[in-house]
Amino acid sequence: MNFDFTEEQKMIRDTAREFAQAEIAPSAVDRDIKGEFPAGIVKKLGELGFLGMMVPPELGGAGLDTISYVLAMIEVSKVDASVGVIMSVNNSLVCYGLEKYGSPYIKEKYLIPLAKGEKLGAFALSEPEAGSDATKQKTVADKEDGYFVLNGIKNWITNGQSADYVLVMATTDKSKGHKGISTLVVERGTPGFGYGKKEDKLGIRSSDTSSLTFTNCKIPGENLVWEEGKGFNFAMNTLNGGRIGIAAQAIGIAEACLDAALKYSKERKAFGQHISDFQAIQFKLSDMAVKVEAAKLLTLSAAALKDAGKKYYKEAAMAKLYSSKIAVECALEAIQIHGGYGYVREYLVERYLRDAKITEIYEGTNEIQKIVIARALLDEN
Ligand code: CAA
Repeated sequence: MNFDFTEEQKMIRDTAREFAQAEIAPSAVDRDIKGEFPAGIVKKLGELGFLGMMVPPELGGAGLDTISYVLAMIEVSKVDASVGVIMSVNNSLVCYGLEKYGSPYIKEKYLIPLAKGEKLGAFALSEPEAGSDATKQKTVADKEDGYFVLNGIKNWITNGQSADYVLVMATTDKSKGHKGISTLVVERGTPGFGYGKKEDKLGIRSSDTSSLTFTNCKIPGENLVWEEGKGFNFAMNTLNGGRIGIAAQAIGIAEACLDAALKYSKERKAFGQHISDFQAIQFKLSDMAVKVEAAKLLTLSAAALKDAGKKYYKEAAMAKLYSSKIAVECALEAIQIHGGYGYVREYLVERYLRDAKITEIYEGTNEIQKIVIARALLDEN
């Protein structure tokens, strides 16, 4: 595998870096404290083409590859992981799924504005009693006169209250288990579509996470994505790509931890010297750097497989599992290097730890990633 980035990939990475520093960094601390959604930043991300990065230009996207997407996600998440997850969900869970499985009608009506960043999307699979055990969908969509009548509750939905369009997984045929689940595009403002509470979270506080409620929502039949009964496969296939996005988000956080630790260790003095002169600190910095590099290679290799049209779900799970784990480890070490300063808001590392933790949970917990990896290994051998 060749990771000499092309001129275009480097340009995307540099654009993302400059945008993140200039437009995202100044408000990141304040938005984290207030739990404020970055609406203006999301609009600008859309104008840059960063909300539909892998969608072809004729469908409103930037026509880039997954490697470019990973590079941009790292740069954005390094500055603010909340913005990272908003970007990741729209790109990999919403646009990718609609491009791959949407009808021409759905692509025209929903994908194009989503890929252009004129509209924002959300992906609603999780329910109060169906998180990891995602086949146990209680939300139902009964067919009536060319419509689906949608009833149920979805939980922990990223972009929940901010999204214009939500991809909702619902059971259309209870007798068929997970093969009776279908995906529907639901528009904000549909009568009967409501919101539960906006979650007050430990981390990624500037992103919007909410429960959604559906009470007798009439969804036109043409809003069915792919085919009836294919909703669970739709969710699994899109989540494979989503896991590459979350791996990149985690790498961004881990890199931010390493940069902060390097900077602080060269400034802080103890026992008459900079703390970077102590081997105890140097070993921590080395370990962090090795982990970041390994996570990047795993994630880029999953992205390269996806770009080559090869099977990548095992590698995506590995990338997400490892990158999220090392993001938490790097955040803990960065705090340790900062000592007492690491535990207060004045320095950014405490936010990095709070933001890192969710990467081990969403888009499949790390325990689920291990199941996916083990099943793939057993199938292959
Ligand atoms: N890729 C493609 N297909 C997959 C797959 C994968 N990684 N994992 C499972 N499948 C398919 C299987 O091939 C099978 O398909 P068929 O019926 O067509 O043969 C189907 O899914 C059912 O699979 P299993 O029989 O293995 O079902 P299971 O119940 O034993 O296990 C699971 C399924 C892997 C545990 C699955 O439920 C899962 O991935 N759970 C985690 C759900 C998750 O990731 N949720 C994240 C919520 S979204 C989110 O977090 C977004 C956000 O807001 C940031």
